[in-house]
Amino acid sequence: MSKRKSNPRSGSNSGASTANIPVRPRHDLVVRPRRNRRTKAIRDLVRETRLDAGNLILPLFVMEGKNKRHAIKSMPGQSRLTLDHIISTAKEAVDLGIPALALFPVLGDDKKDQRATESTNPDGLLQETIAALKAKVPDIAVIADVAMDPYSSDGHDGLVIGDEIVNDETLEILAAMAVAQARAGADIVAPSDMMDGRVRAIRQALDAAGFADVGILSYAAKYASAFYGPFREALDSAPRSGDKKTYQMDPANRREALREVLLDVQEGADIVMVKPAGAYLDIIQAVRAKVHVPVAAYQVSGEYAMIKAAAERGWIDETRIVEESVLAIRRAGADMILTYFALDLAKRLMR
Ligand code: PBG
Repeated sequence: MSKRKSNPRSGSNSGASTANIPVRPRHDLVVRPRRNRRTKAIRDLVRETRLDAGNLILPLFVMEGKNKRHAIKSMPGQSRLTLDHIISTAKEAVDLGIPALALFPVLGDDKKDQRATESTNPDGLLQETIAALKAKVPDIAVIADVAMDPYSSDGHDGLVIGDEIVNDETLEILAAMAVAQARAGADIVAPSDMMDGRVRAIRQALDAAGFADVGILSYAAKYASAFYGPFREALDSAPRSGDKKTYQMDPANRREALREVLLDVQEGADIVMVKPAGAYLDIIQAVRAKVHVPVAAYQVSGEYAMIKAAAERGWIDETRIVEESVLAIRRAGADMILTYFALDLAKRLMR
C-alpha cells in the first residue's frame, strides 16, 4: 500500500517528482475493481475467505519413552514426541483454538510384523496416547489414523502376500485397528489406506462393538504422491519393496477422485479428505461441489518441507507463504485443513 495520501486515485507508482501533479481521471473508465482494494479496512470488508484456528487440525508423531523430542530432519521444526510432550502440545493447541489433532505412532522395528498385530494392542503406544489425551485434554478431538504402515514390517498400508497387497484380508485388520482406537477413546478414526470397502467394514465393526458415535474421516481421494517423502522418514514407514500405486491414486486422475469420494460417503464416511492439498486444489473444489459432508484437505509433509527449505535459505517469506498456501486450500473448498503449520498459524491468527 502506497504511503502517499494526496491522490489515492492515481494509478501511478512513481515517487515524489510527480506527486503534486493532478491526475485527471479518464471518464470512460467507470468500473474500477481497485476501489475495493484501496485501504486495509476496505480489503478486510470484501475478503471472501477467512482463516480461523477452528479450521485447523494438528498432526503429531508420538513415540515411546519419557520427556524426549526427536527432531525430524526432513521436517524442520517438527519432532517425534513422547506422551508427556504430546499432552503439553495438545494443551497449547486447545488454548490457541485448534479443535483437533491427528495422531501417528512411531514404532521400532521390533514392534512391526506382517499383520500389524501391534495396532490392536490395547496397551500399545497409540492406544495409550489416545487414552491419556482424552483424560488430560478432554477438549481436543482426537483423530486416529487407521492404516497398517506404521506397524507393518512391509511398510505398506495393506497386507502383503507374495508381491500383492491383498484387499479383503486387510479390511479385517483395519476394522480391528479402528475398534481398538475407539475403545481407547478416539473421537474419529481416519482410514488412510485406500483399500476398497474399508469405510463400510470399519463402520460395521465400530457399530457392532458399540461405538456408533465414533466418526469416520476417510482419506477418500489420496494420491500416490512424492509429497509424502518426509513423513515416511519421520515414521520410518517407507515401503520395503515396490510402491503404493496399486492402491493410492494416479495424480493424473480427477473423475476417479469423485468416484472414490462418493463411494466413501455411501459407505458411511462422516468427513472426506483430499490429500495432498496444494497441488490438488482442483480436486478439492470438485469434491466440495459434489458432496454434502465436510471436506478436509491435508497439506502434507513434502509441502511443509518445501516451504521450510526455501524459507531457511531466505528465498521466500515463510510467514506470508504459510498463510497464502493454507488460505488457498480454504478458498478451494476445504472446511478443515491438516497442516504441520497449525500451531504457528493459530498463534498468528490470535493477534
Ligand atoms: C499412510 C499415511 C501417509 C501419510 C499419512 N498417512 C503416508 C503414505 O501414504 O505413505 C502422509 C502424511 C504426510 O506426508 O504428511 N497411512
